Amino acid sequence: MQREKISDVTRVLQSVLLAETSAISIYTAQVYWRGPGVQETFAKILAEEVEHQNNFTDLVNPNLVYNLQLLSQKVGGWALGSALSALPRPMVYWLHVLAEMQAANVYRTAFHNIPKDMKDLRRTLMQAARGEIAHARRFQSLLKNSRNTSVS
Ligand SMILES: [Fe+2]
Ligand SMILES: [Fe+2]
Repeated sequence: MQREKISDVTRVLQSVLLAETSAISIYTAQVYWRGPGVQETFAKILAEEVEHQNNFTDLVNPNLVYNLQLLSQKVGGWALGSALSALPRPMVYWLHVLAEMQAANVYRTAFHNIPKDMKDLRRTLMQAARGEIAHARRFQSLLKNSRNTSVS
């Protein structure tokens, strides 16, 4: 019974870490290519995504399938971040609003799938969800500002 609980928690945290790995690769590519957008914002959010990842990395024992999934997220994230670097600035911001809201949902789902007695872990997941919503708001604000100026 306890073993099932641990494997469920591991699965939930793996889904969180896969999403976070993708986000980190996307922002890393955007910072690398210096794509359209406020580079300081991308760099700051990248650092925060790494913090989110660090909260959970030690709690997951890697296996071959998971490592392959991580690799796939890294490559896919880099490709997506590189593609974003070629898009107009407002579209980049808009896509990040959607992606950050999706990331918040990943954390909310994880929160609800973690047993209630694992209070510290649930608290960390909820804090990360709030962090993703804050990211979405930053991009909403950048999107609004970019619509109010003609500079691209
Ligand atoms: Fe994150
Ligand atoms: Fe985020």
